[in-house]
Amino acid sequence: QQSFVILGIESSCDDTSAAILKDDTILSNVTASQAIHEQYGGVVPELASRAHQQNIIPVVDAALKKAAITLKDIDLIAFTQGPGLMGSLVVGTAFAKSLSLALNKPMVAVHHMHAHILAHFINEGVPVPGFPFICMTVSGGHTQLVRVDSPTELIVLGSTIDDAAGEAFDKTAKILGFPYPGGPLIDKYAKEGNPNAFSFAKPQVDGYNFSFSGLKTSVLYFIQKEVAKNPNFIEENKADLCASIQATILEILFKKLRKVAADTGIKDIAIAGGVSANSGLRAKLAEEGEKSGWNVFIPKFEYCTDNAAMIAIAGKFLAEKKQFAHQDVSANARLPF
Ligand code: KG4
Ligand code: ZN
Repeated sequence: QQSFVILGIESSCDDTSAAILKDDTILSNVTASQAIHEQYGGVVPELASRAHQQNIIPVVDAALKKAAITLKDIDLIAFTQGPGLMGSLVVGTAFAKSLSLALNKPMVAVHHMHAHILAHFINEGVPVPGFPFICMTVSGGHTQLVRVDSPTELIVLGSTIDDAAGEAFDKTAKILGFPYPGGPLIDKYAKEGNPNAFSFAKPQVDGYNFSFSGLKTSVLYFIQKEVAKNPNFIEENKADLCASIQATILEILFKKLRKVAADTGIKDIAIAGGVSANSGLRAKLAEEGEKSGWNVFIPKFEYCTDNAAMIAIAGKFLAEKKQFAHQDVSANARLPF
């Protein structure tokens, strides 16, 4: 049986990534991250677009070399159509279309959030979720509870009504004076802190939806009040602050995850997206799984944050369904789920 080789391209936000998937195995997954945004406290769209233009060809070239293949070996091109930043998405989309035309190979347009979930199907020699499963997708732009009926049938059961979980990490980190993105730093300092040292607001919302903006405000007011009394408050309580903030975010997430699992009776529970790299979240899911009899699925670290390997595997499922894109396809910053 002949093997099938997919080039995946991801450029939705501030990471330019290319990956080579052979059947269901990743041969290479190369990402250029953009340090430029750190000094601005967030992603600057114009600078992100420019960096993607500089990085895209070198990143694809590196992915091909690492996989020890050439352009001639590619059978399909999969790219992120959206959602994301327009100026970032167009770079990957235009590149994929040009390459498809030049190589005379088909292409598929991938939904970035579907891809985060489908990353679970990259062959790593470990069990994969069975259908239907629940995926809690937590990233910098989204927080969703999704019921996955098949690789191409995904239904959102709930989502955030304001900030995403990643934004809750990054915005509270900013209040503590950390550079962007602060999520990984909160994770790091939380390891030495007491999660019950401080208590912050856990906004109440209906159904399977989430809300995080009240938490951010509650952290801001608390810090302002304490720093007025003691200018060294943050430095002296860094680990406890981080542990308490992280514990609050996780509690908000798990309250709804437990509810959806109980209501649907579905036992296969997965997480995906950048925040699923959080060590506290990974540990808590494993713990909850033990307690509640769930089969839990935690992505390999490198497939949590934005990467092209997930775009390639999502592309494989679209191609199997013959859902190819045509040359008039365009990037869509608000691509519907
Ligand atoms: O999926 P992703 O790479 O990009 C989007 O599609 O948004 O997610 C990025 C988000 C950022 O908010 C970042 O702070 C967060 O994931 N993140 C983390 C950790 N690693 C990345 N948040 C908490 N703990 C981490 N270890
Ligand atoms: Zn993402």
